[in-house]
Amino acid sequence: MFSRKATHPSHLRLFLLLLALVAGFAHTQEANQPVSVENTLRDPWWKHAVIYEIYPRSFQDSNGDGVGDINGITSRLDYLKNLGVDAIWITPMYPSPQVDFGYDIADYEKIDPQYGTLADFDRLVSEAHKRDMRVIMDWVPNHTSDQHPWFLESRSSRNNPKRDWYIWRDGKGPGKPPNNWQSWFGHSAWTYDQKTGQWYYHYFYVQQPDLNWRNPEVRKAMYDVLRFWLDHGASGFRMDAVSRLFEDPNLHDDPILPGKNAFGDPNIQHKYTDDLPEVHDVLREIRQLVNSYPGNPVLISEADEPTIQDLVKIYGVNDDEVQLPMDFQVADVNKLSAPRFRELLDQIEFNPVAGQPYFFFNNHDQARTWDRYGDGVHNDQIAKLMATLLLTTHATPQMYYGEELGMRTTTPTRIEEVKDPVGRTGWPKDKGRDGERTPMQWDNSKDAGFSSADETWLPIPPSAAEYNVAVEAHDPDSILHFYKRVISLRREFPALRDGAYVAVNRDDPNVLAYLRKTPNSAAVLVALNMSAQLQTVSFKLSGFGVTGKSLEVLLASPKQASAQLGLENVQLVSFGVLIASVK
Ligand code: GLC
Repeated sequence: MFSRKATHPSHLRLFLLLLALVAGFAHTQEANQPVSVENTLRDPWWKHAVIYEIYPRSFQDSNGDGVGDINGITSRLDYLKNLGVDAIWITPMYPSPQVDFGYDIADYEKIDPQYGTLADFDRLVSEAHKRDMRVIMDWVPNHTSDQHPWFLESRSSRNNPKRDWYIWRDGKGPGKPPNNWQSWFGHSAWTYDQKTGQWYYHYFYVQQPDLNWRNPEVRKAMYDVLRFWLDHGASGFRMDAVSRLFEDPNLHDDPILPGKNAFGDPNIQHKYTDDLPEVHDVLREIRQLVNSYPGNPVLISEADEPTIQDLVKIYGVNDDEVQLPMDFQVADVNKLSAPRFRELLDQIEFNPVAGQPYFFFNNHDQARTWDRYGDGVHNDQIAKLMATLLLTTHATPQMYYGEELGMRTTTPTRIEEVKDPVGRTGWPKDKGRDGERTPMQWDNSKDAGFSSADETWLPIPPSAAEYNVAVEAHDPDSILHFYKRVISLRREFPALRDGAYVAVNRDDPNVLAYLRKTPNSAAVLVALNMSAQLQTVSFKLSGFGVTGKSLEVLLASPKQASAQLGLENVQLVSFGVLIASVK
């Protein structure tokens, strides 16, 4: 068992601790947290980290069963380190019937045998820490699997002590659910239980019954889960669907909106099942819990908040809730629009809560950017542009495995092939999320180097032959090389690491341009041509307290004709990217 108290002596560790003590702001450094230079600075590590999401089924299979696993992830840590990743978030790998591929958990404190053992997990954490990388777990508090012993007990009788751990209600009449609430995955959010004659509530799939967060025993059990993984060296949690923890106890019907959704149900507003104020009490309790651990564990929340006003609430009025709420507004612009991105970046800049923004464009629920933002002609170039946007604002960036290669969405073509329950219910309007979950593309060997199995759990996309780590590692113009370069610029240049974000050329309808600047170092200019046309741009920077008169190119795609540019008439070809130091 991994001990929080064990020590890992190393000369580097000793040196950094001394350094921190001398500087007067030493953190108490717990042994099972990595020691990074960032820890010796005032900022918590997650403010400057590059976080990389791993879908464990699809990253690396080490035992040839066609499904990825923990030892597979461990074997690829050097690749991630070399890419510049600071922390990995692994989506659920707990025991699960896999109806929702791990988001239906049957035991929160074990590892599903198909992914390995707890000892494998401990080894992953310790190998990550050796490389100064952290591991973030997925915590799914809203619902369990219907096979979780808690639910099996709960459904066994109306008098069972765990009955109230879930949401059970009487129907409105024979065959009629308690109200009109709908599941995010289609149809009624209530399922009738024949044996006890009541309905249970599930925001997601039928096999994912919602826990009753008004019950203190549930809260305690779920907080114990957090402690369990912190004790095993987790550096924080990505919290699944937290805005859905509470429902209206009076069961008001949700308002019906015009039209129908992909599942054929009437559109509704999830007014009484989403974002209830009680969520914030829980978030505060969780924050206190993680704060009681050393090493600045982080909370990342999935909460697709519709406006910036809603998003800022997740930080907490006293910055006492979530450190990194995911920004779904930025993720979901879904078209290359300089004015729209500028507007969203402005909203973040001018909002009254100075919480750290958290950006992502890809994840396991979303079509990949390569095709979502690609125009069908310049997709590789657009992938580089999106990488620059992700990695050069002051937001903490989150990547998703394979985006650094230009992996694309490979959607099933026949319903028989679909694995994701969303795709099976929503077919053909919603084909589900298999397309963004295909195996990682490592090389040109069998199964793209992902596995040695004759059949992998999802097929290897045809694009793997051209877009894979081995091929791209040899191509200086590859998307992979571009990601590496931008990530290393973030570390090298204080302005990119710490600098304020300042929008420039605000009226340009095609080019999104901004400065990152700090008082004591050269400002960095980022310019992204979000159009297919050549744009000639002049930058007027003097009003922003920047004195430099020329641009030293740090990275451009495609390459600029010269490494030094003036501030006038800079040419940016279709979807061209420029990152330059203002000298
Ligand atoms: C989150 C997960 C998604 C899952 C759902 C239900 O949205 O990201 O993959 O299906 O929660 O747990």
